[in-house]
Amino acid sequence: MAFDSLNFPASSTEDGAALAEGSDRAMRRRDFLVLGGAVAAGALIRPGFANAAGFGDRFVWGAATSSYQIEASPTRAGGGASVWDAFCRRPGAIKDGSSGDIACDHVNRVAEDVALMQELGLRAYRFSIAWPRVLPAGTGAVNAAGLGFYDRLVDALLAAGIEPWVTLFHWDYPMALYERGGWSNPRSPDWFAEYTQVVVRRLSDRVTRWMTFNEPEVFIILGHQLGVHAPGEKLPWSEILRIAHHVLLAHGMATAAIRASTKRPCEIGYAAALEPAIPATSDTADVEAARRATFAGVAGWLLDPVYLGAYPEAERKAWEKDVPKFAPGDLRTIRQPLDFFATNIYQGNVVRAGRDGAPERVPRPQGAPRTLMEVFDVVPGALEWGPRFYWERYRLPVAITENGISVADWVALDGKVRDPQRIDFMRRYLRELARARAAGVDVRGYFAWSLLDNFEWAEGYRQRFGLIHVDYATQRRTPKDSFAWYREVIRTNGANL
Ligand code: FCB
Repeated sequence: MAFDSLNFPASSTEDGAALAEGSDRAMRRRDFLVLGGAVAAGALIRPGFANAAGFGDRFVWGAATSSYQIEASPTRAGGGASVWDAFCRRPGAIKDGSSGDIACDHVNRVAEDVALMQELGLRAYRFSIAWPRVLPAGTGAVNAAGLGFYDRLVDALLAAGIEPWVTLFHWDYPMALYERGGWSNPRSPDWFAEYTQVVVRRLSDRVTRWMTFNEPEVFIILGHQLGVHAPGEKLPWSEILRIAHHVLLAHGMATAAIRASTKRPCEIGYAAALEPAIPATSDTADVEAARRATFAGVAGWLLDPVYLGAYPEAERKAWEKDVPKFAPGDLRTIRQPLDFFATNIYQGNVVRAGRDGAPERVPRPQGAPRTLMEVFDVVPGALEWGPRFYWERYRLPVAITENGISVADWVALDGKVRDPQRIDFMRRYLRELARARAAGVDVRGYFAWSLLDNFEWAEGYRQRFGLIHVDYATQRRTPKDSFAWYREVIRTNGANL
């Protein structure tokens, strides 16, 4: 199936044509999520700040990272390889020919990195666990040193007064299980539940915030359909939907496993990659078009079963011949009660009502602000409208588990790293998030992506998203200007925005 019809089965033919034209291009990261990258100038830049309601006393200010992007490969310390270890060795797979072999060498620098988090004043730190570091073969024998590493990390965080928010899967799938069919194997949900149980038994006396998956949309589509992320597969749509079903089941079973084995009451979420639509005007028809576009295609397909226990009807029809047959009880397994709605939001798309109210993208003005990462535009309104729509549909408190920007920053001659665009970007997005709160959305937290510059997947080290600069040759960490700025945001609970 062509990705243009896949994403927006019901959207305007104009968009479809434009996307089809470009479908020969190498697929870029996130293209599949993007309705069109449209931004109206007016929607982009809104002066003034309505932070009267503030962020509330219990707002969680955090920063996020992921295992493969910062730790150094588990294979260097008794763990197994992940699909990313293997993918990075494919000629041409990573733009600068690099890998996460050493990355930020975080496994050997926990004390220094946690001290930096403490200096930043973080209330919470979101990190992921490398499945093959814990279970080298994906199931069965535990690598004691691997599990011990997370044990120490959790202790160090708690000693520093920082709450651990743990993601169980952020894309580094065990190679040994990939060789047994990976997510295509109907047993894959059991494997994930087994791994989850091992981790939860060990850490749940101290960890009380869990996320099962990070961005299932991205590793399923980019990794298995477009082949631009690990494991680099180009599978047909029917197989993608089967994989998606297994991932959803894995989420449900892991959630049940957490509840069954946790030693303390805990909160569980599922961190989706989303690109909400922003209505072009406050007109009811535009708002409705934006609402529809927000849940269309892959986004709704991977959300509704988790939160509502059903696949969305429109896509079910559109993809009828490719939707896998599944047992009637599967959707009950997938839909487990969750405690918060986690989402990573980097951008959104301005949408208006077209013919018959169908969502139609507003063309992106020439010269509109962009980030260094080609596929991410600057669209702050996504942090107002996303939370509004997700709250309205799923009625769970919202946590923004990733948001941030890659800019061309470096260590200047005087030793400082000046990143004014990052400060401005975060400021704009956080103001919009405050608007969502003011509009009545229960927004509980915000996690900056990322604490450290790190290995940005197929982009290698060419993109720097960190609040802290990393010199990969020396592993020297240099807090950027945005680090000092974000510290003030945290200290004042957003009053300085
Ligand atoms: C998200 C990923 C994260 C990082 C940021 C920039 O899609 O979850 O690992 O790559 O984008």
